[in-house]
Amino acid sequence: MNYEKMTREKLEQERVLLSEQFAHYQSQKLNLNMARGVPCPEQLDLSLGLNDAIQDPKDCFSENGTDCRTYAANIFTGVPELRQLFAEVFGVPEEYIIIGGNSSLNMIYDMVARMMLFGVPGGDGPWFGKKIKFLCPAPGYDRHFKILESFGIELVTVPMTKEGPDMDMVEDLVRDPAVRGLICVPKFSNPTGVVFSSEVVHRLAKMETAAADFRIIWDNAYAIHYVYQDVPLDDIFAVCRTYGHEDRVLYFASTSKITFPGAGIAFMAMDAVNRKWVMPALQTQTIGPDKMNQLRHLHFFRTPEAMYAHMARHAEIMRARFDVVNETFREGLTPYGIGDWGDPKGGYFFSLDLPDGCAQKTYELCHELGVNLTPSGATYPYGKDPRDCNLRIAPTYPTVQELKAAMEVLCICARLVYVNQLLETK
Ligand SMILES: Cc1ncc(COP(=O)(O)O)c(C=O)c1O
Repeated sequence: MNYEKMTREKLEQERVLLSEQFAHYQSQKLNLNMARGVPCPEQLDLSLGLNDAIQDPKDCFSENGTDCRTYAANIFTGVPELRQLFAEVFGVPEEYIIIGGNSSLNMIYDMVARMMLFGVPGGDGPWFGKKIKFLCPAPGYDRHFKILESFGIELVTVPMTKEGPDMDMVEDLVRDPAVRGLICVPKFSNPTGVVFSSEVVHRLAKMETAAADFRIIWDNAYAIHYVYQDVPLDDIFAVCRTYGHEDRVLYFASTSKITFPGAGIAFMAMDAVNRKWVMPALQTQTIGPDKMNQLRHLHFFRTPEAMYAHMARHAEIMRARFDVVNETFREGLTPYGIGDWGDPKGGYFFSLDLPDGCAQKTYELCHELGVNLTPSGATYPYGKDPRDCNLRIAPTYPTVQELKAAMEVLCICARLVYVNQLLETK
């Protein structure tokens, strides 16, 4: 069955068979979306209780007596009990946490803007006007790349391995003083699902960088988003502290994939050096974020245990979809010698590696059959996948039935593209 070992004659027969299946799906006029990682309605329903979480005027006060219905400079960094809850659940020191608005991506954008305009502690002033490079483990998150690119920062691709970024390469690249940072999703990474190994975290923490103001944007967006089982991630602050590099870490997370994307709570966390740097700018930007939404989240969850139970319900809904992806790939690609999709235990995505040169054409054929995928190349800096092999699969939004159809279409298109490629080259 392995396509690479098939004779030309057999491959031609296979092409006829696949073309028939393609025509069958063409007649079905599908309209299915596996493009963006958003929760399905069933998942969103889990958080409906947020809307009723504050019923009584006394619920509008934080424990320290602050009325959260109005401006309150004394809790600028967040309602203390919510900071406590996040500290416990995300495993970061409470005093490091600065709660913001509804979007961690927005906080990352503002952070990079601040670096450009005002510079970073330990550095040589604003980055604006200088040659600045960032290391971008890829496949990675397209919106991260877009933020950096929008400020004229040069994106340097570093391959992702099953354990995190290729650290030999990272250690080599940080000897360049123009390399001022690295942006990553360390747990259930978007899109590979990889969790950085302990060795990777230690090497990131330990390495000496030529730039004194080197920063790691540690976007822990999927910190508690297991699907099959949790996979521990080392405590980045603690590890960096042991090497004297704690100021290297700028940590971000949000409840976007816990409660409501776009209406959740985002926060960042950092050591005292970085807090001293960002606080005056933050306090100039706003009188304070939405504390009522913070209270709603606090009252809705109350305890870490309730938050974990909530994530277990998410996981159950996601598992049905992850199972479909795993099974369809195992049956629809593996026997033909195609496809590596890792083994994600959590997160929101699958990262499918096809034979080189097959991703863009597979994307186009799927599109022709009404199956929308994240554009090929999007998982790489500048939207350019050097091997044209990677596709990001976002299986959470469609129903299980829709997902089955979409995944079958994807497998048929990938096989057809590869068979055509082999026939052209044999
Ligand atoms: C890695 C990562 N970071 C951030 C976000 C967006 O988070 P927020 O809604 O908090 O801006 C996403 C959403 O898909 C994501 O995958």
